[in-house]
Amino acid sequence: MEYNLVLLYTSLAIGILTLISVLKRANGWFFTIKFNSKKFNLPPGDMGWPLVGNMLFFLQSFKDGNLGSFFSYYVTRFGKGGMYKTFMFGKPSIIMTKVEISRKIFMDDENYDRGMPNYILKILGQAQVGGFTREESKSLHRMTTLIKSDISLLSNYFDFAKEIVKKSFEKLVDMEEPIDVLLAIKRPAFDVLMRILIGDGVDNDMVNVLFEETIYLFHGCHGLPFNIPGSAYNRGLKARRAMAKIYQYILDERKVMIGKNKTREKSNILLEMMLNTQDDDDEGFNDEKIIAMLVSYTFAGFESVALVASTAIMYLENHPHFLDKAKVINESLRIATAKTIFFREARNTININGYTIPKGWKFLSFSWNYHMDPRTYVRPKEFNPSRWDDLKTKPASFLPFGVGPKMCPGANLARLEVSVILHYFLLNYRVEQVNPESKIEPPRSCLVKFKKI
Ligand code: HEM
Ligand SMILES: *[C@@H]1O[C@H](CO)[C@@H](O)[C@H](O)[C@H]1NC(C)=O
Ligand SMILES: *[C@@H]1O[C@H](CO)[C@@H](O)[C@H](O)[C@H]1NC(C)=O
Repeated sequence: MEYNLVLLYTSLAIGILTLISVLKRANGWFFTIKFNSKKFNLPPGDMGWPLVGNMLFFLQSFKDGNLGSFFSYYVTRFGKGGMYKTFMFGKPSIIMTKVEISRKIFMDDENYDRGMPNYILKILGQAQVGGFTREESKSLHRMTTLIKSDISLLSNYFDFAKEIVKKSFEKLVDMEEPIDVLLAIKRPAFDVLMRILIGDGVDNDMVNVLFEETIYLFHGCHGLPFNIPGSAYNRGLKARRAMAKIYQYILDERKVMIGKNKTREKSNILLEMMLNTQDDDDEGFNDEKIIAMLVSYTFAGFESVALVASTAIMYLENHPHFLDKAKVINESLRIATAKTIFFREARNTININGYTIPKGWKFLSFSWNYHMDPRTYVRPKEFNPSRWDDLKTKPASFLPFGVGPKMCPGANLARLEVSVILHYFLLNYRVEQVNPESKIEPPRSCLVKFKKI
């Protein structure tokens, strides 16, 4: 009897293990068969489980702040080639861990599209308008860069950023309760962005709702995209619809205003620049595209500014003697953007580094591999602005904003903004952390009180 039970359990266990190992390989077999022609030559790697691929392992390492363990799995198992096949974000993909290979791809606009996962394009409203063409993306980049390169507009940008930051610090000092430092800095960063996107004549309540909904939009993007009632993704989609309504209202209002005013000067507000591209021949950005752009910029244009600035603030709290702002900003950028994921998608069949990759596959590059590389940055997890003293040797491994035609169009604005925030902070304020026992890396989960000095 007992013997039979042992037999039963043993065969059950073997059955389950076999099933698991079949499932675990099924994805790999599927893609090997699908792309098993002489035409392709894929790098080594692991396609993970059906449907989710390697996402669970990835998200876990991401959450633990230890992406290193994810990459070292590939390097130890599949060699130091720097390119590995995988299945992530719902698509067969190539992970690139070497900065030289990534830079090659970033510089090549012909063969690579922007490859953001479709569920994120949906939450931004880009999927619904058919995305932006290459021409439209270029035109958006030009407009954004205009804001920083036109001398008269630049001084303007500087002035209003100063005003917004000053006012928000004054408010923060008056607060009775401690506040999460990241959230505290998000607000002025958001207000500066709104000034660039829609100008400053917009109703305050509307801007407040936009800010609150944007926070849900972020949550919706940071996890698995299950669109079921109550899920973060579902709430994120709702947030986008609410934001789109507000932006449509502002757009309609602005059209009337511009239509009435024949003596209007050249605008430095992105929404108006986009409206100015519309003409009677249906050329330029239509309303739907303008709104998708506004939502996308709201998504891209302030959270990382707040992350970088509050990283610097929390560091300076513990090392007040460090006064070289330029180095603090670079070091904050290096640390705060260490978890950036760059997405690209092959427009054509791609020949690269001896491999032939099918059209439609994604290319994923992670700044972790460059910003946390101990060969470039000694003891990379340490916040140490002094490392910038003699770091001129390897600027190739510093990519906070990316590089090439698709790099961040707001890079200079962002640097300027972080610099304004730090300037006012250092001159007049300090923070006191009320939960120093928090084990989470600053600036996350730091509750602080702002003090005037
Ligand atoms: C410290 C702050 C910021 C960081 C670290 C940052 C970083 C990045 C990165 C890494 C990318 C992707 C580049 C690529 O794929 O090659 C990106 C894209 C983008 N960023 Fe930023 N960014 C910042 C601030 C801003 C600001 C202030 C704006 C707006 C004024 C902005 C607007 C955008 C837009 C619109 C894109 C998408 C561009 C496209 O699709 O072609 N960013 N950013
Ligand atoms: C028209 O625009 C100009 C500058 O762009 C501004 O000074 C003027 O007040 C506007 N007129 C009206 C009626 O809004
Ligand atoms: C910060 O990084 C930029 C490159 O991204 C570089 O041009 C600049 O010299 C660096 N600043 C310092 C102080 O090292």
